[in-house]
Amino acid sequence: MDWDALYKACISCKQCRLADTRTNVVFGVGRRDAEVVLIGEGPGQHEDLQGEPFVGRSGQLLDDMLAMIDLSREKVFIANIVKCRPPGNRDPLPAEQEVCGSWLEQQLALLRPKIIVCVGRIAAMYMIKPDFKITREHGQWFEQEGVHMTAIYHPAALLRDPSKRPETFVDLRGLREKIRDVCTSTY
Ligand code: URA
Repeated sequence: MDWDALYKACISCKQCRLADTRTNVVFGVGRRDAEVVLIGEGPGQHEDLQGEPFVGRSGQLLDDMLAMIDLSREKVFIANIVKCRPPGNRDPLPAEQEVCGSWLEQQLALLRPKIIVCVGRIAAMYMIKPDFKITREHGQWFEQEGVHMTAIYHPAALLRDPSKRPETFVDLRGLREKIRDVCTSTY
């Protein structure tokens, strides 16, 4: 499938029960030739209403975090593991992640990113390894099939616990360096 076909199929998806309660499918935003892809866990209330990932309070902080290393949502691609809001902001169920993950896989097949940044524990457990420990392993780099992957704290966690922010700044500087090492576009 090309991007347009994928988008059309994804926004009419009814493969799991999240379709019954969503307002919008949150497909993802950004450059379709991005070398850096950020992956969150799933839409919250604001994202569901607006159809765009990371537009609530967490999203504002994520934008600020990207700006610290000269990135913006226009320069990367941002998506989630699940495209529809889990009711009451619960974690997406493993079955929902598995079914919806095929949309993400198709997005990644088109994007062919050099770097994947998992935003938060759930995305890291899905993308990097099921026993990923965010407190111990954030900022570390993992290579899978030539793609460089890392995880940072979810901005919602940084809003709850600002003492984690300095570590995240170190992780973001590591991301900046990795971009310099492996990306060819001017970021
Ligand atoms: N949290 C996420 O993980 N993704 C979003 O899109 C918004 C909040």
